[in-house]
Amino acid sequence: MEKKELMYEGKAKKVWTTEDPEVVIVDYKDDATAFNGEKKGTIVGKGAINNRMTNHVFKMIEKAGVPTHLVEELSDRETAVKRVSIVPLEVIVRNVAAGSFSKRMGVAEGTALLCPILEFSYKNDDLGDPFINDSYALALGLATQEEIDTIKEYTLKVNEILKEYFLNAGMKLIDFKIEFGKDKDGKILLADEVSPDTCRLWDVETNEKLDKDRFRRDLGNVEEAYNEVFKRLGLA
Ligand code: TMP
Ligand code: ASP
Repeated sequence: MEKKELMYEGKAKKVWTTEDPEVVIVDYKDDATAFNGEKKGTIVGKGAINNRMTNHVFKMIEKAGVPTHLVEELSDRETAVKRVSIVPLEVIVRNVAAGSFSKRMGVAEGTALLCPILEFSYKNDDLGDPFINDSYALALGLATQEEIDTIKEYTLKVNEILKEYFLNAGMKLIDFKIEFGKDKDGKILLADEVSPDTCRLWDVETNEKLDKDRFRRDLGNVEEAYNEVFKRLGLA
């Protein structure tokens, strides 16, 4: 399968058309941004790690009954996926307080939550991905009630799978963000990626941060953290 035309370039990936109108190729970059693109940098080797890790995780998730857009990995940075229209919701799950939740709620990072929190942001860079709820999503036509119900069910299942997966590799899944798409028949599929860009992962013993917060917060050893996750998952 060959790349034809550049369809879209995002902050971390390019998307190319192919000869099959139902399939596109995702091409992972080493570019990293934070704070809605204000902070820019490169994380050497990130594209290949995020590509491989996402595909591995998506296969596992698919087996557990949550459909994904994955078709096949083409190279270390490129993957063929089903063409979908992305539901403009960033779906976030929090198991432990951190990041914007800690700031907004005045709860110290690392505080355990009594149950997982599922939250939505409106995926809109111009607005800085504002926090919204189901009513906003319905009223703005971002998704139907049925789609929201499916997305929530899939997301909580993904959380259970990922928590166990990372814990078995010595990491706590603090929180993560996923995105869903709709295929040509309107079927909801897990899309985008699951990687250290989109998950907070802390070492289970020391709470060392092994994710993109090392880049966001200038903590150093950014590449080392991505490589460590990759290695612990047995993917290196
Ligand atoms: P937050 O605490 O900054 O809201 O982030 C929650 C989770 O979502 C965290 O695991 C990082 C991830 N995330 C993204 O994947 N993309 C983003 O643009 C942001 C802001 C967070
Ligand atoms: N999505 C953020 C950005 O817009 C990156 C992040 O914080 O993960 O640059």
